[in-house]
Amino acid sequence: MTTLERRSAVPGRRLSDFDDQPQGERAGCRMIDFPRISDPRGALTFVEGRSQVPFDIARVYYLYDVPGGESRGGHAHKELQQLVIAASGSFDVLVDDGHETARFHLNRSYNGLLLPRLTWRELGNFSSGSVCLVLASLPYTEDDYYRDYDEFLAARRVVDHETAPDTPR
Ligand code: TYD
Repeated sequence: MTTLERRSAVPGRRLSDFDDQPQGERAGCRMIDFPRISDPRGALTFVEGRSQVPFDIARVYYLYDVPGGESRGGHAHKELQQLVIAASGSFDVLVDDGHETARFHLNRSYNGLLLPRLTWRELGNFSSGSVCLVLASLPYTEDDYYRDYDEFLAARRVVDHETAPDTPR
């Protein structure tokens, strides 16, 4: 079974159901290009809160030593915004805003994927030795998670109705 044929964390859904390589904004998420300063000694990329990412960076964490075939995520956040970077190697980020799904392949240390609040995400297809660096807008709290997909969808519908009251729930 290939990684894409594996079932996603959402019952009945497979990773191959997500669109591949979206351009521009999809499901509310978009890729950001960061500066690259290269010289004969190597390359340097920097990320500044508020200017290149639309939030102050309150927390940094990273995923590493992910065994082949494993997936991470499988949740959404109530308030947290995040920027995900493939600091080393590559992996896929599957996103879902309750209306649209997309699959972003991250494989450049100078690109980041911006995930707004209320975005269901699953990470998979990690290459060997990859490092997933995450910049987050808030400190960690378990209260900020939706780990149940239906709870996430219900919350999303409430927010969508508040921002566009004519939209049916
Ligand atoms: P989780 O966010 O579920 O990981 P992933 O989405 O990558 O699968 O977090 C896994 C565990 O780590 C969970 O018990 C919460 C804990 N954790 C922290 O204590 N602090 C943090 O900043 C993060 C991101 C997770």
